[in-house]
Amino acid sequence: MDDKLFARRYEEYRAAVEEYLDGLFIGSVPWKTLYESMRYSVLSGGKRLRPVLALEVARLGGSRDWRDALPFACALELVHTYSLIHDDLPCMDNDTLRRGKPTNHVVYGETMATLAGDALQPEAYRLIAEAPRLDAKAKVEATAALARASGADGMVAGQVLDLTDFGRDEQSLRLLHEKKTCMMIQCAAELGCAAADAPAEVRAATRMYAARLGLAFQIQDDLLDVIGDEITFGKPIGSDAEEGKTTYVDLLGVDGCKAEVRRLTDAAISALSGMEETEFLITVARNLATREK
Ligand code: IPE
Ligand code: IPE
Ligand code: MG
Ligand code: MG
Ligand code: MG
Repeated sequence: MDDKLFARRYEEYRAAVEEYLDGLFIGSVPWKTLYESMRYSVLSGGKRLRPVLALEVARLGGSRDWRDALPFACALELVHTYSLIHDDLPCMDNDTLRRGKPTNHVVYGETMATLAGDALQPEAYRLIAEAPRLDAKAKVEATAALARASGADGMVAGQVLDLTDFGRDEQSLRLLHEKKTCMMIQCAAELGCAAADAPAEVRAATRMYAARLGLAFQIQDDLLDVIGDEITFGKPIGSDAEEGKTTYVDLLGVDGCKAEVRRLTDAAISALSGMEETEFLITVARNLATREK
């Protein structure tokens, strides 16, 4: 896909997500610090990878208008944002920099950061339930998909494996990555499909694509934690080692990680082979394989 065309479409999705998110948690309430703390993290300029994927998959799956899927896409971004706020807490990764800014608990304190994360979760399900242009079947499907991806057998399970004394061989690390990261990225495809009531082939292909992309994405994240540049990455370098984590870099080395990211990226792209108009998703995968932030 032409670079300019890709950039234009990504920007169109991203801007729509920003605008939607900017409409949340506004108004004058006595607990306004909570709103401020939520908005601080929600609007701090992430890549918006998950909602962008959800919107593109909705388009590919046959949505009347991809904008109809915005509440589902942004619900996923709210849950992602909560996971980052809690991930940075002193009791978790104890990090002070996120997206190039002080982490939520550094600015608002641990109590408010915990509560901001708490509030973002039900708010996500509210967005799904209240989505104006999607039907009840799509909403039930999206609710189950998001709960599965982020719950006790999803992202939170991954965080438990990450933060407890779990096996550190390749098989264990793969399970950890699948739970911690892949399921949330796979959920983007599932939410797009739910919004579009997509046909079975699109569901299968995009889920497979997203699962492989998710693994490549977390290996690249582990790699950037070692060889990245703090200003560009927007997160502290060496945080995993400091927290005593074993990552893919320990297992495969820097070059081994780069090769594994390339292999998984190719595998993600090949999952789309039976579909049409996949150039955007292919370019997303290629770009993520060489990302520096
Ligand atoms: C960070 O996710 C957490 C991981 C799963 C590695 P992103 O790299 O998508 O974070 P933002 O939203 O762009 O900041
Ligand atoms: C966290 O993985 C993924 C989440 C579930 C939030 P990391 O701990 O590696 O994410 P970063 O590097 O802090 O973004
Ligand atoms: Mg972590
Ligand atoms: Mg972390
Ligand atoms: Mg990391």
